[in-house]
Amino acid sequence: RLPKPFAVPLPVAAAARPVRTSGDTDYYELTQRAADVEIIPGTRTQIWGYDGMFPGPLFRFRSGRQAVVRIRNGLEVPTSTHLHGGVTPPDSDGYPTDLVRPNATKDYTYPLRQRAATLWYHDHRMDYSAPQVWRGLMGMAIVADDEDDNLPLPKDDHDIPLIICDRAFADDGSFIYPALRPGPGVEAPFGNGVLGDVILVNGAPWPVLEVDASKYRFRILNASNARQYRLKLDPGGDLVQVGSDVGLLAAPVRHTEIPVSPAERFDVVVDFAAYPVGTEVTLVNTLESGDTGRVMRFKVVRPGRSAATVPDRLSAVDKLGGPVATRTFDFRAGSGDGMRMWTVNGEMFDPDKTMARPGLGTVERWRFASDFHHPVHLHLAHFQVVARDNQRPMASDAGWKDTVEVRPYEVVEVLARFDGYRGRYMLHCHNLEHEDMGMMVNFDVG
Ligand code: C2O
Ligand code: CU
Repeated sequence: RLPKPFAVPLPVAAAARPVRTSGDTDYYELTQRAADVEIIPGTRTQIWGYDGMFPGPLFRFRSGRQAVVRIRNGLEVPTSTHLHGGVTPPDSDGYPTDLVRPNATKDYTYPLRQRAATLWYHDHRMDYSAPQVWRGLMGMAIVADDEDDNLPLPKDDHDIPLIICDRAFADDGSFIYPALRPGPGVEAPFGNGVLGDVILVNGAPWPVLEVDASKYRFRILNASNARQYRLKLDPGGDLVQVGSDVGLLAAPVRHTEIPVSPAERFDVVVDFAAYPVGTEVTLVNTLESGDTGRVMRFKVVRPGRSAATVPDRLSAVDKLGGPVATRTFDFRAGSGDGMRMWTVNGEMFDPDKTMARPGLGTVERWRFASDFHHPVHLHLAHFQVVARDNQRPMASDAGWKDTVEVRPYEVVEVLARFDGYRGRYMLHCHNLEHEDMGMMVNFDVG
């Protein structure tokens, strides 16, 4: 019943084109609509996608050039679109109750005064993010800048998005989202998050990519609702990390395995010159065995033809310091409305409440405690991980982040800079079922 692994070529979306540009702004138009697409060979799956695509169109934004994205909702449900990792004014940030109704449009303004980074966009509708993202409402947005362009890293057809997510399918090809219930929320047995048994990369099941024996840059995004991955090459090899969620690292970090929780991005370089032509290299998830333990395959089919290198210094990353306040957020199971829920500091999400009021331009120390795996995400503010249980952070915590995996009974400390805009933003768990079950709070930048 499951599709054969490593049979479907990896799709790589073409970049979205602006419908017009003026001085410093590029204008795009997208329609959210249902479409029937072939995901499992020989079957059709109805998706909800930006422009009917799953994943949605790939944006290639330029740092410092504003993008205005007009989104028309051609679905039968309300939506709200968030540019994850974007430094965005509050009225364009995709607040969960800032809904675009069916047949309505909204212009989202992204000033993009931020460094080169691998961002993504997805639905954020209150109580329904998980089922709506599962049906396809997400895509990647790469921000480029001169600093990144001028590095000798792999480029063009050697710079490839890898949007990884899991889904489940019925025999007729339709998506199964098992946690749907009448009314908002998540069916109780799925309170820890919904997992699928098919791993998709760029919307294709366990795809294969033919590569030459040279270096490739892969923009890895875990777009799964709840699945964690620990990515590794088989046969073994280095995953050389050059960027984190929201930008280049100061210097490359060499990994043999990378833990990737939902919403995190890892920008890595893999050198296929390390393998003889003819080698098949599988990207595996060591947290699982069997089908869900495999992600995709690379086939080294010809000698290398790129001269790209990974320099020892990538970017200037200033170390944040001088926090003016410390706040603790406890991510924990709880109950509300007679159901099991997920809470932050004992409370379920209430759009009218604010849990913190950081000052614009200040740095604060935020501590995240947890009872389970919670990938914690801040809108607007980028942060640096400074400690896990008072110990040094992990190698995979390096650089500018917007999402950090908080493991069971662990306390993660970050320094966050509240730069950009005043207004209401959110902090939440990016396990999308947890998010829909209340694990979200507001903060107000003043
Ligand atoms: Cu990617 Cu508030 O989320
Ligand atoms: Cu969570």
